[in-house]
Amino acid sequence: MARTALVVGGGGREHALVRALSRSATRPRIVCAPGNAGIAAHADIRKVNPTDPAEVVRVAREESVDLAVIGPEAPLVAGVADALRAAGIATVGPTAGAARIEGSKAFAKEIMDYAGVPTAEGGTVQTVADGLSLAADLGYPVAIKADGLAAGKGVTVARSEAEATQALTACLEHRVFGEAGDTCVVEEGLVGKEVSLIAVSDGWRVSRFPAARDYKPIRDGDEGPNTGGMGSVSPIPDLDDELADQLVELVHRPVIAAMAERGTPFSGVLYAGLMMTADGPKVLEFNVRFGDPETQAILPRLGEDTFDLLLALAHGELPDRPVRVRPEAVVAVVLASEGYPGEIRTGDPITGLAAAEDAGADVFHAGTVVGERGEIVTSGGRVLAVSARGATVADARASAYHCAGLIGFDGVQYRTDIGAGL
Ligand code: AMP
Ligand code: GLY
Repeated sequence: MARTALVVGGGGREHALVRALSRSATRPRIVCAPGNAGIAAHADIRKVNPTDPAEVVRVAREESVDLAVIGPEAPLVAGVADALRAAGIATVGPTAGAARIEGSKAFAKEIMDYAGVPTAEGGTVQTVADGLSLAADLGYPVAIKADGLAAGKGVTVARSEAEATQALTACLEHRVFGEAGDTCVVEEGLVGKEVSLIAVSDGWRVSRFPAARDYKPIRDGDEGPNTGGMGSVSPIPDLDDELADQLVELVHRPVIAAMAERGTPFSGVLYAGLMMTADGPKVLEFNVRFGDPETQAILPRLGEDTFDLLLALAHGELPDRPVRVRPEAVVAVVLASEGYPGEIRTGDPITGLAAAEDAGADVFHAGTVVGERGEIVTSGGRVLAVSARGATVADARASAYHCAGLIGFDGVQYRTDIGAGL
């Protein structure tokens, strides 16, 4: 009987997961909850609330799934992985207790301290006055972060006391992040290149994925406000396999061991956001899931069966080695709606999707729905990621931009420098 996988979530990362799982040699059936208009072409869609553990378990049972993979952080923090495991379903994703390493930046700092993992100096505060005094001790610039989940918007790099006052007041007194901002982390501002290094663990063994870079600001040259990510590239020449292996020993493995020692073993995806500083690599943050849009550049490079790899993880039988990778580069360019990352417009018909796929790209959908006449229309800030392969980053980049140019919708915006100069 065909095997079935359930992917929880409905963005570009989940579309990339669905595609990678569906390419398994055993041709599994894929169900995605809640999915989106593009995912519907490759999976059966179930419209449920992905952060409701009972609803997700009900779908998993009804669909007799052999493997559940949880894409975003919110369902993990809400305990969806705990509920699936309690129902006897093989699951990729940490328990709510272990997901705190993303859900609380203060907890992440505590674990890094315990495990001896290099990170920015700093501490936690609950008042503006304490925050300013810690910032003065650390020296400007400082990074000020809401402790809890803030959809990527909870970090300010403050260059002066005035900027720090503003950020601390917004978080702690005006409560712009709600409860997520009851506590703030204040830490030294780090300088360097950022890299994303993702590994999976079954609670003990660790297997890393190839390194990637995410481009967060909206405009070319890293100008303008931060977004969820405007593109990604893998490999990155300044983080080769040897250095990536060293970083796993420095960061991921000690954290996985610390989580097990402290009674919250971590089984799932551990994403380290790292700054390569003049004093060596330092952790900026952990995520407990695949990166978006890094996944759109990483999974198309895998040289192994994604279903089998993730099933082995879920069964506690992960091979303790890096995942196998094809010697190819991938560049993923995000096409966003007009106005993003501010107020966006939606409902614009998208043309050229088939042409871009015919030209060799994977077009991963993030914010799309089926319109009244059956056409695909925009429905979110990040609409698509056009992901293309090449023998080199330069080749992959040329192909990604050629394919992105075949797609159109009113108000489309994208960066033109993803993967440039690598
Ligand atoms: P985070 O959600 O913690 O990764 O922070 C989001 C972004 O803020 C990171 O990708 C960095 O660009 C920036 N950032 C976070 N922490 C620091 C820091 N200590 N120094 C400088 N920039 C930082
Ligand atoms: N690409 C950044 C993230 O997934 O958090």
